[in-house]
Amino acid sequence: MEAGTSSRDAVSYEDGVVRAFALAAVLWGIVGMLVGALIAAQLTWPELNFGIPWLSYGRLRPLHTNAVIFAFGGCTLFATAYHVVQRTGYTRLFAPKLAWFTFWGWQAVIVAAAITLPLGMTSGKEYAELEWPIDILITLVWVSYAIVFFGTVGMRKVRHIYVANWFFGAFIIAVALLHVVNSAALPVSLTKSYSAYAGVQDAMVQWWYGHNAVGFFLTAGFLGMMYYYIPKQANRPVYSYRLSIVHFWALIFTYMWAGPHHLHYTALPDWAQSVGMVFSLVLLAPSWGGMINGIMTLSGAWHKLRDDPILKFLIVSLSFYGMSTFEGPMMSIKTVNALSHYTDWTIGHVHSGALGWVGLISMGSLYHLIPRMYGRTQMYSVRAIELHFWIATLGIVLYIAAMWIAGVMQGLMWRAVNPDGSLVYTFVESVKATFPFYVVRLLGGLLYLGGMVVMAWNVVMTMRISKPASAPIPAVAAA
Ligand code: HEM
Ligand code: HEM
Repeated sequence: MEAGTSSRDAVSYEDGVVRAFALAAVLWGIVGMLVGALIAAQLTWPELNFGIPWLSYGRLRPLHTNAVIFAFGGCTLFATAYHVVQRTGYTRLFAPKLAWFTFWGWQAVIVAAAITLPLGMTSGKEYAELEWPIDILITLVWVSYAIVFFGTVGMRKVRHIYVANWFFGAFIIAVALLHVVNSAALPVSLTKSYSAYAGVQDAMVQWWYGHNAVGFFLTAGFLGMMYYYIPKQANRPVYSYRLSIVHFWALIFTYMWAGPHHLHYTALPDWAQSVGMVFSLVLLAPSWGGMINGIMTLSGAWHKLRDDPILKFLIVSLSFYGMSTFEGPMMSIKTVNALSHYTDWTIGHVHSGALGWVGLISMGSLYHLIPRMYGRTQMYSVRAIELHFWIATLGIVLYIAAMWIAGVMQGLMWRAVNPDGSLVYTFVESVKATFPFYVVRLLGGLLYLGGMVVMAWNVVMTMRISKPASAPIPAVAAA
């Protein structure tokens, strides 16, 4: 197994598994976004399911969400957590063989998802669709991940635990808890199980899980990336270490209570909906505190943004984080949700967070990390990174602007009533009116996917011009 070395005290790092997860992230990013583009096209032209059941929208949609969140996002999280925890603790990974088990185990989960979801095997719980045998494998991988991560934290050579590791650690613990509680089910066969919960309790557990999946899977770990890769790439210390600690505790505490905003105007007791709304509004403060801390890390060095496309990825991702964490609390206000719920506004919100925040911070972090895994300080082509940044940003803007307009339009059309109380528009009229916006969204998605293809090319070229993986990695390059 190849290893990098630290410039500080010649620690030999366990980088093989970091490299494997980073490359897998790029591959699964392309697959997940390709499926995203396909379902976006199917919503525009439904015939594109070709009458084949496993190409139907209902089966491919969860394939898309699982692939982008758990395969692309998940592999990026594994790669960066393993990279950061070694560098900030000046120590090798604890239990490297177990770390390799997490790699192969996670790939097995992804392949199993890619087979079972198109075949229609699903638990029916959003973002937790996989059936119970795969859920058990996920649990095994996750416990191993926790052992490797916290074992490495335990072996650190410095007293202090750098704040990025707090975020990665919270993400690992919270996801374990969420997964085990929400996936509790009674199996009736190898491919079918029924939830342990029923009725409104099932809905509440599901959205306690669902919202915290956003808070911990799609946010906390990526904030860990922010706290390591922005200071590294900008070569500046974090703006405020004190703020980072307040940010951490406030975010962790608040996220747990916000789930009921997904269940406004349902059978969930009204007081619980209001609790969800209030905590969602409070969530704006820690979210923006974190964003400000990340962006202000560049203070005094703004000029670096001009020529460093990796910093552009990292900083612009934070602007989208700020946007989606402003929009989310607004959408959690019941009267606003009455307009936005069920419309494409939600899809616009999701993708401003997913493409803008999760996607761009992942890409920026991977562009910093991948060359270092090959003994270099820079990717093969910096111009290709710049190109990727601009087409991805244009893609996001087209995607979310189209969905915002479509969403607000749908909400207004559905609630418009004539003086006699009858509806002004039929549902089909709102679908027809949405068509042009679906075309624009598809175009935005294709641009974003195109950016990922440019990235894959750049990664392959970086690998090709690099030294064989077994050659010793120069200390400065690996630090
Ligand atoms: C090429 C890029 C992408 C395209 C074209 C795309 C397209 C789509 C489409 C068409 C849907 C279904 C919308 C609906 O049901 O009306 C969807 C849902 C979703 N996508 Fe994407 N997507 C892309 C990238 C991503 C990424 C990178 C992530 C996450 C990191 C993501 C996360 C999600 C989630 C969570 C949903 C479910 C939203 C909900 O249920 O409200 N997508 N996507
Ligand atoms: C302060 C932070 C946030 C709050 C308070 C918040 C709030 C909300 C609200 C109110 C909804 C609509 C629920 C509905 O009408 O069904 C929603 C949906 C969603 N949000 Fe956020 N949001 C926040 C940040 C984010 C971020 C950063 C992301 C992505 C990285 C994200 C991903 C999602 C997803 C995936 C859904 C759709 C869930 C579904 O129905 O399938 N949110 N959010």
